[in-house]
Amino acid sequence: AADVGDDLVEVLFTEAQIQTRIAEMAAEISRDYEGKDLVLVGVLRGAVMVMADLSRALDKHVEMDWMAVSSYGSGTKSSGVVRILKDLDADISGRHVLIVDEIIDTGLTLSWLTSNLGSRGPASVEIATLLRKPEALQMPVKAKYVGWDIPNEFVVGYGLDYRETYRNLRDIGTLSPSVYS
Ligand code: PRP
Ligand code: MG
Repeated sequence: AADVGDDLVEVLFTEAQIQTRIAEMAAEISRDYEGKDLVLVGVLRGAVMVMADLSRALDKHVEMDWMAVSSYGSGTKSSGVVRILKDLDADISGRHVLIVDEIIDTGLTLSWLTSNLGSRGPASVEIATLLRKPEALQMPVKAKYVGWDIPNEFVVGYGLDYRETYRNLRDIGTLSPSVYS
């Protein structure tokens, strides 16, 4: 049977490498937030895998909440406008917030989300992302915890999709050109 990984032309990060890096990030986060009330905010849908693994690798109690956001118009992010499809259930006022996402590409999503959550009176707002594309960045985003910086290539797996497929791939990689044609 065909495996979802068969369409990859190159594996950038294996499942084992991802888990090792997540564990390192989790150790750092556990240290930094020791004794603090922490709310993890996962950005649906791509962040589901990172959220599940990062939260379970932490050495502390956390609350987990979710937001779903979308760009206005026909999915183009260039408009710079973001709307909330699903807001937090939690009141984050006075609390420490860590936004969890799997990738910072142009930076629009997390730049907007950081300022939106920041306006709700939290004790702090920081970002943890597994991947970041420095060359693609269009908006200033300060991520405190970054798994890896990667080149400006289209990647799938571990939450990252191409037309809603490949999110459940355990590795992260680049797609074979034949998939696009
Ligand atoms: C992707 C990804 C990040 C965001 C990064 O989500 O999961 O959240 O784009 O891109 P940016 O830095 O250019 O904003 P997307 O909006 O495609 O939705 P998804 O999480 O449901 O895949
Ligand atoms: Mg996303």
